[in-house]
Amino acid sequence: MSTQKQFTNPRAKHGFRGRTCSIISVGSYVPEKVITNADLEKMVETSDEWITTRTGIKERHIAGEKEFTSDMAAKAALRAMQRGNITPDQIDLIIVATITPDMPFPATACLVQHRIGARRAAAFDVEAACSGFIYALEIGQQFITSRTYETVLVIGAEKLSSIVDWKDRNTCVLFGDGAGAAILQHRPDAHGLLTACMGAEGDKAELLCMPGGGSRCPATPESVASGLHFLRMDGKETFKNAVIAMCTAGQEALRRCDLDISRIKCVIPHQANRRIIDAVGDRLGIKPDQVFVNLDKYGNTSAASVAIALDEAVQQRRIQRGDLVLMVVFGAGLTWAAAVIEW
Ligand code: UT7
Repeated sequence: MSTQKQFTNPRAKHGFRGRTCSIISVGSYVPEKVITNADLEKMVETSDEWITTRTGIKERHIAGEKEFTSDMAAKAALRAMQRGNITPDQIDLIIVATITPDMPFPATACLVQHRIGARRAAAFDVEAACSGFIYALEIGQQFITSRTYETVLVIGAEKLSSIVDWKDRNTCVLFGDGAGAAILQHRPDAHGLLTACMGAEGDKAELLCMPGGGSRCPATPESVASGLHFLRMDGKETFKNAVIAMCTAGQEALRRCDLDISRIKCVIPHQANRRIIDAVGDRLGIKPDQVFVNLDKYGNTSAASVAIALDEAVQQRRIQRGDLVLMVVFGAGLTWAAAVIEW
């Protein structure tokens, strides 16, 4: 027996006899403008030393005034389509994971559909904050394995700079903008997305949220003046919950596939804080050379985070066909998810 196949495909274990779903290509985009820690030192009372030691972030990319989430999403999508030799007419469905849509409605996915000329595609958004890309992958996977669609485009994209309070040092140093995309199809020679565990804990919604702008608190001069349209976070509590949830989700995903962590070629964690990644790595027994980290360059890009990291890991050949990949994420909601992929 080939050593590559020594794991369980949980979908097969539970009687699933249908098609598998693979990521056939990936792409990403980050805006040109970079804000370094030194730049932030001039904007709020902070230091490169504090940001680096507490988070691991050195710089982040920030979209231009006239560059929106749909623009970044479309650019990442076009790169993935080019690499996968996918024409716009082949795309059946577009799912965009984002908490910073261009507008509350219509869905950013519809704007992307127009931008890339995918006229046949259905389009909708998924809102699961930093966990959104894995949520969207799992949703896309369902459409492929059920034979509803042949080709699904999944995107994680954010313009977090538009909801960050640039006067609040507790949050403004943490986030960045960007997008990552993946094309899903059935490939007869690969198991593809083996499993995805997803969870949520809505009683902790207030730990990380943007209170204004929805039906509970529509925009008024007062709500804007009170800063209710900016992202708010209880950093310490979010940190603790992130470590616990990412460990639990990662372990569950591995257990479902009867895999030991040593079999995973590359672990792609949500890029929020280097200390969270290290704590999860310690608890799951992940070796430093197994884990992919790029948050020093981009900060936390929420739903785009693991999508951009996946693309970079593939372009750097840290992941090759046949490798097993574990992705683990955590975000507002609270939400979390983990996925195991045979690349
Ligand atoms: O993507 C969703 C998931 N998000 C996360 O997982 C983020 C989770 N949380 C974190 O990454 C960390 O909690 C932070 C990076 C946000 C904060 O790190 P911390 O070690 O938990 O710091 P802290 O909140 O305990 O703050 C310590 C001190 C405070 O000062 P006092 O009250 O001790 O005097 C803060 O005011 O650091 C201060 N501080 C800063 N100092 C310099 C907070 N932000 C800054 C800053 N520069 N930018």
